[in-house]
Amino acid sequence: MIKMTKTMTYLLGGVAASVIASTALADEIKIATGITGNAAENLAKIVAPWEEATGHTVTLVPMPSSTTDQFSQFRLWLAAGNSDIDLYRTDVIWAPQLADQFIDLSEAAGDLVNEHFPSVIESQTVNGKLVALPMFTAAPALYYRTDLLEKYDAEVPTTWEELSATAQRIQDAERAAGKDDMWGFVWQGNAYEGLTCNGLEWVKSFGGGQIIEPDGTISINNPAAIAAVELAASWVGTITPEGVLAYQEEESRGVWQTGNSVFMRNWPYAVNLGNSDDSAVKGSFGVAPLPSGGDHDGSAATLGGWNIAVSKYSENQDAATSLALYLGGAEAQRISAMLTGRLPTITALYDDAEVLAEVPIMEQWKDVFLEAVPRPSAPTQGAYNEVSSKFWSAVHNTLSGEGSAADNLELLEAELTDLRGDSW
Ligand code: GLC
Repeated sequence: MIKMTKTMTYLLGGVAASVIASTALADEIKIATGITGNAAENLAKIVAPWEEATGHTVTLVPMPSSTTDQFSQFRLWLAAGNSDIDLYRTDVIWAPQLADQFIDLSEAAGDLVNEHFPSVIESQTVNGKLVALPMFTAAPALYYRTDLLEKYDAEVPTTWEELSATAQRIQDAERAAGKDDMWGFVWQGNAYEGLTCNGLEWVKSFGGGQIIEPDGTISINNPAAIAAVELAASWVGTITPEGVLAYQEEESRGVWQTGNSVFMRNWPYAVNLGNSDDSAVKGSFGVAPLPSGGDHDGSAATLGGWNIAVSKYSENQDAATSLALYLGGAEAQRISAMLTGRLPTITALYDDAEVLAEVPIMEQWKDVFLEAVPRPSAPTQGAYNEVSSKFWSAVHNTLSGEGSAADNLELLEAELTDLRGDSW
């Protein structure tokens, strides 16, 4: 009888592997991952077929929701050469900063890379090294209450100015009718990466550029960007609760899903959760592209999404790589889309009738995410986290009434120029 080694077992995959799994040594593979919403429960279901096929077990190491907090923790673990964690679920913006800490997946992935949208693979490729495989992509939407828009005979807004007016009108009318907790618009205003995403959308959709352009030019200090951030600051305490200054995705979803906001900016994960049985807005909301600003006619959505990377300090690299290929492959992405409503990065799933029927946002959102605006992580390389934290601080200060957008963006430009030095 042929003696199976562990490595041979994972390479076989599928049914054959499950037959021989009992003869092989099983590994326990640890994935560090954020668990926003019901992500932990869902990930356990997504990895189950792989566990069954290989005989290995997967353990989740749950992380706080904030991508900013995850990044700080991951960076510490990786700098210390932590061999306890085999796989990290990584944000789309991290590849250039963490490239040296992960193994190159290009060879193991082989043709699998061609099954993904090329732009997503590109975002995870640093100097030819495939740092991580995509698990899902994301581009935010404007969530709106169909029942309230109908009741007040209002249209889905296509400009931020229109959104401000509609939100105020409906909020006032609902409050006058005794719904004291009603707000117009909730979003993410905490001082963290999520505010960089919201801020970039306001600025870009006003025609104010991308903070730092793909060629490295610092463009943030301009009149359109200033007007965009000023408008957002005017929402705080009027159509948006002041608490937004501490909101991340889940806090805004909390207000929305209890029925207390007319509009919400959030990622696609909130569609399925909003339609769950315990949701006050079940069946009474729709999603549309985010509005554009001023006299500019382009809506902007920040490109989000999460990937899976194998730590170079893992002592189970073969099994970890096998799991990464599974999570970045069609089978896992299909299960994930059906369970979570998150957008796959495997092109063929956008032609899969069963998936489309279960996740209607996919058809509508394919173009939105393909045209989404990347944050400037590629041009700024290792400095991205600092760039982003300076941007979200300038925006957070303005939203909090500490300085005007004009002053704060001028200061930001000076700080970014210093940080860049001669080049990024
Ligand atoms: C979502 C996006 C991610 C982004 C984060 C900000 O998780 O997928 O890319 O950085 O939100 O809060």
